[in-house]
Amino acid sequence: MRVIVDENLCGTTGQCVLTLPSVFHQREADGIAVVCLATVPEELREAVLLAASQCPVAAIRIVATAPGEPAVQATGPGRVTSNDGMGETMRRLEGKVGVVTGAGAGIGKACAEAMAREGARVVVADIDAASAAACAAHICSHSGEALAVGTDIADEGDVAVLFETTARHFGGLDLLVNNASAMQLTPRDRAILDLDLTVWDQTLATNLRGTLLCCRRGIEYMLARGGGVIVNMSSCQGLSGDTAQTAYAASKAAMNMLSLSLATQYGHAAIRCNAVAPGLVMTERLAAKLDDAMQRHLMRHQLLPRVGCPNDVAALVVFLLSDDAAFITGQVICIDGGMLAHVPTYADGGNVRRKQAADSAVESSATRPV
Ligand SMILES: NC(=O)c1ccc[n+]([C@@H]2O[C@H](COP(=O)([O-])OP(=O)(O)OC[C@H]3O[C@@H](n4cnc5c(N)ncnc54)[C@H](O)[C@@H]3O)[C@@H](O)[C@H]2O)c1
Repeated sequence: MRVIVDENLCGTTGQCVLTLPSVFHQREADGIAVVCLATVPEELREAVLLAASQCPVAAIRIVATAPGEPAVQATGPGRVTSNDGMGETMRRLEGKVGVVTGAGAGIGKACAEAMAREGARVVVADIDAASAAACAAHICSHSGEALAVGTDIADEGDVAVLFETTARHFGGLDLLVNNASAMQLTPRDRAILDLDLTVWDQTLATNLRGTLLCCRRGIEYMLARGGGVIVNMSSCQGLSGDTAQTAYAASKAAMNMLSLSLATQYGHAAIRCNAVAPGLVMTERLAAKLDDAMQRHLMRHQLLPRVGCPNDVAALVVFLLSDDAAFITGQVICIDGGMLAHVPTYADGGNVRRKQAADSAVESSATRPV
C-alpha cells in the first residue's frame, strides 16, 4: 500500500518514503496520514518515527495504540500520542506549562484555548480578572487545565505574583505568550505633534516595559527548567509607518528588537523567542470599532480575500511554541494576509487592472454579433 499524504497539507507527497505496507491510513476529514505504532513491525518503527519527526507540515501523526486498546505512551524521536477516546489527536504541547497575558479576550484568549487543546496547562493572565476567569473556566469545561490570574503587566509586583503563582500551581514554566497591550489607548494615540505624552508613556509602560518585565520573570523560571519558548505579540504597525498610532507602533517595533535580543542572549540556554506581527485580525473589540468603510479600505491592501481571525494567529503561536519550530528563533513573523508583502501601489494597480478587464469585457460584448 502506498501511503497518501494530503497534497494540500504537504505539497511534497511521495518524498517521505511512506511506502510501508499496512501501516498508515488516511483520516477522511483532514487528510492526515495516521500510523498506529502498535501495528508497525518492530523493524520499521525507527523509520516511521523518523518520517513523522521530519515531516515539515505534521501531515503524519502517530498513535501509540490501536483504537479500543488501552492507551500506551510510546517513546522515541517521533511525535507520539496516545488514544484519548476523542479520536487520534496529536497534542503538541503535552506536559508543558504556559502563561498567556491579555488572555481574557481576542487573540490572547484564542492562544490560551489553542494551547490548552494541544495539552498545555495554561495560566490565563489579564488586567480584567473577570474575563481571565471566564476564559479559564471555558478551558476547564473542555477538559483542559487552566488557572486565571488577574494581572496588570505594567505592574512589577503583579508580574512577580503571576509567575510565582504559575510555578506554585503548575510546578514551573515552559511557555510564555506576551500578548497583552494597552489597546484602550490606541484611539488617543495620534500623530507626533498631536500626541498626548501621557498616552506615549502609558503605551510604552504596558506594551514594552510590561513585556520586558514578563520576559525577565519568565526567563528565570525557564532557566530553572532547562529551556523554554517565548512568543511576543507584535504588530504589522511595528514594521511600517502610519498617520497615527505613533506610540503603539514604536512600542511594537521595540518589542521586535526585544525579541531578537532575548533570542540572542538566551539561545545558549535553550530558550527560543520569536515575535508575531498580525495585520487586521477581527476580534470582538475591533468588530465593534471598525465600520464597513474602514474594513473595506484595509481589505483593499490585503492579498487574501478575508480578514484574519484570532484562531489564525493562535495557530501560528502554537506552532512557534511547539517542537515543530524547534530550530526557529529570533524571527519576526508577519501574519497579515499579505498586507505588507506587496508594492505600495498594489491596491490602485489592482483596481486599474480590474477596471481594464471590466472595460474590455463590456467592449467585447458590445462588438459581439447578436
Ligand atoms: N486585533 C488586531 O488586529 C491586532 C493586530 C496586530 C496586533 N495585535 C496585537 O495582538 C494583541 C492582542 O490584541 P487584541 O486585538 O486581541 O486585543 P483585545 O483588546 O481584544 O484584547 C486585549 C486583552 O489584553 C488585556 N489587557 C490590556 N491591558 C493589559 C495589561 N496592562 N495587563 C494585562 N492584560 C491587559 C485586555 O483586558 C484584553 O483582555 C495585542 O498585543 C495587539 O497589539 C492585534
